[in-house]
Order: sequence, then C-alpha cells, then structure tokens
Amino acid sequence: MENPDLVIRRARLTDQKKLQDIAIRNGKIARIADSLSAVPEKEIDAHGRLAIPPFVDPHVHLDAVLTVGSPRYNLSGTLIEGIQIWGEKKADLNAQDVKKRAVEAIKWEVVQGTQHIRTHADVCDPGLTALNALLEVKDEVKDYADLQIVAFPQDGILRFPGGADLLEKALAAGADVVGGIPHHERTREDGLESLDIVFKLAQKYNKDIDVHTDETDDDHSRFAEHLAAKTLKEGFEGRVAASHTTAMHSYNNPYAFKVIGLLKEAGISVITNPLDNIALQGRFDTYPKRRGLTRVKELLEAGVNVGIGHDSIMDPWYPLGKGSMLEAAFMCLNVTHMTGYEEMRQIFKALTFNSAHILRLEGYGLEEGNPANLVILNANSEINALRQGAEALYVLRAGMVIAKTEPAKRFFLDQEVKLEVPGIYE
Ligand code: FE2
Repeated sequence: MENPDLVIRRARLTDQKKLQDIAIRNGKIARIADSLSAVPEKEIDAHGRLAIPPFVDPHVHLDAVLTVGSPRYNLSGTLIEGIQIWGEKKADLNAQDVKKRAVEAIKWEVVQGTQHIRTHADVCDPGLTALNALLEVKDEVKDYADLQIVAFPQDGILRFPGGADLLEKALAAGADVVGGIPHHERTREDGLESLDIVFKLAQKYNKDIDVHTDETDDDHSRFAEHLAAKTLKEGFEGRVAASHTTAMHSYNNPYAFKVIGLLKEAGISVITNPLDNIALQGRFDTYPKRRGLTRVKELLEAGVNVGIGHDSIMDPWYPLGKGSMLEAAFMCLNVTHMTGYEEMRQIFKALTFNSAHILRLEGYGLEEGNPANLVILNANSEINALRQGAEALYVLRAGMVIAKTEPAKRFFLDQEVKLEVPGIYE
C-alpha cells in the first residue's frame, strides 16, 4: 500500500470484534485492518470509539426550518394548524431567508454526523421560491453535504388550479424526486388521481417518488395500499418511498398485514418521522392516546426497508429539534417498543444503510475503495450512541475533517464522571 494521507487508529466498526485502523489516501478508504504499520502524515486516535458511515436524513423540510413562531406559534399543536401557519409564512417567503435558514440547519446536521439529506421543497407557489433557493443551497453545500430535493406539493396537487403544472415545472427546474400528499387532497378520489399525476411525471422525467402517505390518524386513509399497487403496475419497484404512513397505527391488524405485504412486494421503503409524529398525531384523541407512528417493528420484520427522518427542525409543525439523527432514532425506538438488544441495533442501522438505500447512494459504507466519508462517534457501540446521543467527535468527508465536537466533561466534586459502564453494550 502506498503511504496513506491519514490513518484513523483504533476505531470500532459495527461488524468487527477487534479495533481497526482505517487508512485514507486521495480521499478514499485505502485499507482497513486491525493494525497498520503505515506511517502517515496525519493520525487520529479513535480510542475505541465507533467509526460509521455518515448518517442519512431521508426526510426533512429545509424550506421551513427555523421558522418557529413566525408569523405565529402553533397553539393547537395540530398538523393542520401547522399547514395554515406555513401558508401564512409562504405568502412572503424570500429566497435569501430560505437559503440562510437551510444552510444553518444543514450545518447543524453535518456537525452531528449527517452528510446525505433528502429535503422536501414546497412547490405550490408560482415563483417556486423554496425550490429555487434550495437548488442554490444544494450547490453551495456540496463540499460537506449531498442534497436531494423532492418537489413537494404541500397544499395538494388538485386543491388549487395549476397544481400539476407547478409540480411539473419544479421537475423541469431540477428537482430530483417527485412528491405528493394524497391524504390532503379534498377527496379520496382526488387523492388517487394525484398519485396518477405523480407517476406520470416520474415516468416523463425519469425520477424517483417520495410521497407523504397517510399522515393522519384516520384509519380510512389508505393510500399506502394504492401506492404499492401502482408501483407494481408501473414497474417502479425500488424507486418509491412512502413517508410517514402513520394511519397504519390504526388500521385493523389483518388490513395492516395486507398493506405491509404489498409494500414489501413493491419494494417500497417507508420513512418514519418520530419527532414530528409523536407530537402531531393523536391530537383528536382523549385517552388512551395513540402513539402516532407507523408500524416500524412489523415493517422491519416483514423485510420492508425503513428509514428514519428528522422532518422538522423548529418549524410550524414541530417547535423543537436540533438536527440530531440520534435524537430522532431515540424517540423511534422508545415509541415503537424496539428496546430489545438487536432491535436497538436495527434502529441504528436505519439511520445509515437503510436510509442510504432510499436515497440510492453509491459508494456508501466503510469499505476499501469507497469515498472516505465517515464519522467517529463518542461511544463504543451503536446502543451507547443511541442512549447517550453521542457527539460526532470527527466528521470526515473525502478524507478531510470537516467538523468536530469537543465533548463536555462532567465532574462530581473534583472527579470526572463518565456516563458509561465499561463492558455493557460494547
Ligand atoms: Fe414531512
């Protein structure tokens, strides 16, 4: 092996018992072995911390991030009031403002270990302000994050004249993925028709599809079924994602079983958004209140690919969030009762490989020959990373450190306290 530019020493990989050295040359992973004799220019000692490929956020609304309270707060906490407030905000949205907020939120995500992001851009205004702003952002941030942009008809495609034309205009302008929101159309019939339009445009522009699907507590919202059938009919297997699918929590079990089977057959990935949906759903319930998430455990058991999205970062739908995928995953595993040992590891995998599959990323993963995009987390296992919301000590992109975090030290009297018990969850 030629002399590497950088070697990361003593890193823990999720699939290896022994600590590994990772040699990086010309921006790529040159070699991974348990002890490399190479003497590089630079070294990073990982001290047994976890090295992983970057987190992937497959679902966020970067046009709306950091707008909470503007023009007003969501007092009911409902999804519908969120859409109303966003409608008011949209009336005077300007591109500079969108860009500034989006770049800020992307930096928050990158510094916590994310490098691949799929964002939705609302395409219901004639000027396509959000989309045009995010297309510029995509170019501006490309050295530290990859952006995919979904043309997202937040108000529905058929709820106002010219909705389908705007969606098409967005694709012609450079949006990467076709979005939809069938459960928000006026009627079930309009919802079905909106999906016909989504598929027609996806075929015409050769784009993947990512539809906000059944994001409601209404168990009669059944567009996931149709999305799967349509995917099979149109030969779009492996190119479609169903975001949210929260109504599935309230389907009767035999029907949920049927839908999960259809999603699997159609190769549809599901994206769950635990932070928003635990807060937004169940708002019409008294007690007991529903948890508001799709059936993550059952979907994974059936072999459906499930990713986890952040969705909102301080916007009209969810006033909190800090761009941490570990926080979204922590919420997910608690709400979905996935606290079993292997289940927690599965949830961690959803943040990386499952979501990378949704974005159809190439060269993803810590393997020789792949781009040296990786993160060293301040934890010695996936479970400890989830439990502690571990900091990203180093974030590397093409072999360069692009972000780092110095973790806080905690003291009881004058003794440092580490929130970790050696040997457990290693
Ligand atoms: Fe969303």
